[in-house]
Amino acid sequence: MRTVLFAAFAVILLNELPADVKAASEGVELDHQEWTFDGPFGGFDRQQLQRGFQVYREVCSSCHGLDYIAFRNLEAIGYSEDQTKVLASEYLIEDCCDDQGDIFDRPAIPADGIPNPYPNEQFARASNNGSLPPDLSLITKARANGPDYIYNLILAYEDPPADMEEEIMFGMYYNTVFDGNQIAMAQQLFDELIEYSDGTVATNEQMAKDVTAFLHWAAEPKLEVRKQTGVRVLLFTLVFTVLAYFLKRRIWAGLKH
Ligand code: HEC
Repeated sequence: MRTVLFAAFAVILLNELPADVKAASEGVELDHQEWTFDGPFGGFDRQQLQRGFQVYREVCSSCHGLDYIAFRNLEAIGYSEDQTKVLASEYLIEDCCDDQGDIFDRPAIPADGIPNPYPNEQFARASNNGSLPPDLSLITKARANGPDYIYNLILAYEDPPADMEEEIMFGMYYNTVFDGNQIAMAQQLFDELIEYSDGTVATNEQMAKDVTAFLHWAAEPKLEVRKQTGVRVLLFTLVFTVLAYFLKRRIWAGLKH
């Protein structure tokens, strides 16, 4: 029983290690951020997720899809049913088929997925100098230290050092975090690029943090439930261990040493 308990605590502690410790093997040192979803009691800040969705919608969605998220999923980040209907209706979806058998466009409904900006991969590549902007639904899970990595990546644009200037290929940009330091995505965030509907000042860092938190929610919408279950299981194990201990004392009490 105690072994189980120690193992459980060890797993939690490992999860708590600062990113730069875990990232050491990845080569780049990431600036670790405090996330509301860190730690065994962490959760999402709905206001932040909505700001993050706004950044996604107004900036990232022109190149990146969010294939696994339907409009109605956005109710989980605090939008009402009516709001998701309005949000959805601003997009057009290709549907099949009308009475003549032709594909036609219709406004999206909450059950539809957020439409991909490109009709197919070839089109996406052709529009981005041969590179494919990946779907962002699971991106925070697909990279080591996902949230810290993405936050750092989208802010890590600077002028290339003199010895690299020549090496930067056409359509590529110098980025200190991306593997190889050349990325096909130009810098996307600039201070006050968007105007947040909740009045928060849209600095570069604020937008990077909000959109990353939103993408982490997209990748793990059940994070809060998972953590709550974990804490409950631990509490149960703790109570059970104490009970088992007293039971053992009681059973052995009658025995002479
Ligand atoms: C103009 C198109 C465009 C926009 C807008 C854009 N991206 Fe990208 N993004 C790309 C392309 C192209 C790549 C592929 C880069 C490569 O492989 O070199 C990419 C790659 C990425 C990656 C993957 C990096 C990796 O480790 O492979 C992330 C994460 C990302 N973008 C996040 C964002 C976020 C967040 C936004 C909005 C703030 C955004 N992008 C806006 C074009 C775009």
